[in-house]
Amino acid sequence: MNAARWIAEDFNSSGIEASTHSIDRFEHTEFPDFQNCLLGFCFPTHGFNPAPFMLKFIWKFPWARHKTHVFLLNTRAGVKIRKAFIPGLSGLAQILPALILLIKGYRIRYMQPLDLPSNWISIHPGLREKVVKSIYSRCRAIINRMSKRLLNKKRRYQAFWSLPFDIAVSPISVGYYFIGRYGLAKTFYATKDCNQCNICIDNCPVKAISYKREHPFWSYRCESCMRCMNLCPERAIQTSHGYTIPLWWAITALAYPFMYREVNKWTDFFMQEGVLSSFGNILIQGIAFLLLSIPAYFVAHYLMKLKLIERLFRFSSLTYYKFWRRYKSPGLKVSQLKKDRI
Ligand SMILES: Cc1cc2nc3c(=O)[nH]c(=O)nc-3n(C[C@H](O)[C@H](O)[C@H](O)COP(=O)(O)O)c2cc1C
Repeated sequence: MNAARWIAEDFNSSGIEASTHSIDRFEHTEFPDFQNCLLGFCFPTHGFNPAPFMLKFIWKFPWARHKTHVFLLNTRAGVKIRKAFIPGLSGLAQILPALILLIKGYRIRYMQPLDLPSNWISIHPGLREKVVKSIYSRCRAIINRMSKRLLNKKRRYQAFWSLPFDIAVSPISVGYYFIGRYGLAKTFYATKDCNQCNICIDNCPVKAISYKREHPFWSYRCESCMRCMNLCPERAIQTSHGYTIPLWWAITALAYPFMYREVNKWTDFFMQEGVLSSFGNILIQGIAFLLLSIPAYFVAHYLMKLKLIERLFRFSSLTYYKFWRRYKSPGLKVSQLKKDRI
């Protein structure tokens, strides 16, 4: 969001009209006529993929009728260790949207990854404010250079620099797209500190949260962007590490061998040696996970009404502890986000 705004600011201050559009606003509306426009797609990288919401948007985006130029900008997980800025990894985040847009007849002018602070706070605490500020000012300078090049009609494909790594992680990208994001969606819960302020519901970009039995419940629409966790003023939203690990064990140790045996009764495909068999095994594991995590999450949600279970969840969630910082991108206010919603 910030990166897109910066580009628009740079263009406007050079006298070229530019605007940003949040993609959830296009859900039920017509696409504007963008003849003679330079189009930019700015989106976060999730699990070495474009965020699914963005991928769907690009997929539905109209075919090019004119020689329309586009640029792609994916934000990634940047960190700073001492004075070194460590970049994130795009995986398919640039390649996939670029391919779709090329097929649709667009001309790709610029492909830029941008290493904003990592916000993947299910797996690490949010970065310190000082580090966030430093990463932000570096990114602002990168965007400034990018805007100048775009204004001068230059082409640049910075995204290709990490192509060998991106291709190497592409199998994980595919796995994450189908399993990872659904798995992560089913690890969020709200503790008893939730005061039903609705901020998580109002600000969810994919409208994945609703109340079930007066408690927030995450549906499979969730893309695990973790905005809810970051914005909750009560710090009531957690990732349930203590529930996820035993659940994963139950699925792989108990359900998977059973499913494997059953599938083999029908076909010996998975008994074969080699790549096909590994692929088959991963597929069965993924299906076992998807099938079982749904009822398990329902049961956990209702059991959370019990004090003891709620406590178990709370104390076994790393995100519950004070040292596990939340991440807020500079300049982003909850009330501002609330007003922005359609
Ligand atoms: C669920 C999830 C998955 C992520 N996967 C990746 C990834 O594969 N590669 C990467 O570089 N960053 C990854 N990130 C980090 C974000 O892409 C990055 O922090 C974000 O784009 C920063 O932009 P923002 O501050 O505008 O949200 C991930 C973040 C989340 C929440």
